[in-house]
Amino acid sequence: MIAQPASNFVRASQANREVVLDVRNLRIHYETPKGDVIAVNGISFQVYKGEIVGLVGESGCGKTTAAMGILQLVPSPGRILAGEILINGLDMLGLTGEELRERRWRELSLIPQGAMNSLNPVMRVRDQIGDAIITHEGQQPKDKLKARILELFALVGLPPRVYDLYPHELSGGMKQRACIAMAIALSPPVIIADEPTSALDVVVQRVVAQTLLDVKERLGVSMIMIGHDMGLQAQMVDRIIVMYAGNIVEVTPVFPAFHNPLHPYTQLLISSIPSIRERKPLKITTGLTHDLRNPPPGCSFQLRCPHVMDICKKTQPAMIEREPEHRVACYLYGKEEAKG
Ligand SMILES: Nc1ncnc2c1ncn2[C@@H]1O[C@H](COP(=O)(O)OP(=O)(O)OP(=O)(O)O)[C@@H](O)[C@H]1O
Ligand SMILES: [Mg+2]
Repeated sequence: MIAQPASNFVRASQANREVVLDVRNLRIHYETPKGDVIAVNGISFQVYKGEIVGLVGESGCGKTTAAMGILQLVPSPGRILAGEILINGLDMLGLTGEELRERRWRELSLIPQGAMNSLNPVMRVRDQIGDAIITHEGQQPKDKLKARILELFALVGLPPRVYDLYPHELSGGMKQRACIAMAIALSPPVIIADEPTSALDVVVQRVVAQTLLDVKERLGVSMIMIGHDMGLQAQMVDRIIVMYAGNIVEVTPVFPAFHNPLHPYTQLLISSIPSIRERKPLKITTGLTHDLRNPPPGCSFQLRCPHVMDICKKTQPAMIEREPEHRVACYLYGKEEAKG
């Protein structure tokens, strides 16, 4: 059964439409000896104030690279070739060196993929959070810093005793909550959480997911939640962005994502959600994603699409708005001006 989207859908339709993050034409390649891997192929999207946007798509489609690109932390041999990243109008790609380091965690923070394993094992959690605060805001009285860290712990549901503990003394869920505390330490308007629940058991997953929702409600931040768990996406997010092979293929409010997916890839994704009510053969698709070093002309999904047409093999479909806020890049819905 597809999980019913919670009241988030209502929230989405009533949400404040103020754009906080505006990503325009972001292109990221990994430069390898065998050619450039086109990991992010000129994507554009917006995140509104106070909403959670889900970023979904199969493994290797470029979700993490896009997130790292937005933070300008793409590891070598990755390179941002083009794009604009505006946070409340501030052009982040225009910032360099010290200015970028200074602004990055204030404007935007990341809960990285596998975050709980990225905690420094030989530093107490408090010192890791304290260091992040001091680096950006300078030294401050010890008791003030302690009060602030304990306040962050309370926000993410960590008990005060964690203040004296090392990461190995925490459970997986607690470590992940410590990472969330770190991400909100400087109160950025946007947080990107890269598969924040993927390495946790299902009960703890829900606790961490609820922690993120609480943080969002209390601080009014916007979030991009990268993930594979479509049930969790249904419960948590306001809108969904679907990526395939470095391209955004659909952007939709959460309810139509599950009940009226438009792009054949999104339809495949939704039909792959298991159901206990209706046990049916598992849906298997034929075809492989193309080599990202050598994309065919036209639509990125053409090799696997059950509806592929001649035009799909020639020119990349443009993103068109089918319903308010529901956009899709597919010739099944018209042959509007092609992209690039
Ligand atoms: N260092 C690298 N060198 C070359 N190619 C890379 C490198 N890192 C990632 N890639 C390629 O870039 C593409 C996008 O990878 P990315 O990690 O962003 O995907 P993802 O959507 O986050 O996947 P997952 O769901 O598995 O986390 C993949 O095809 C991957 O093989
Ligand atoms: Mg990833």
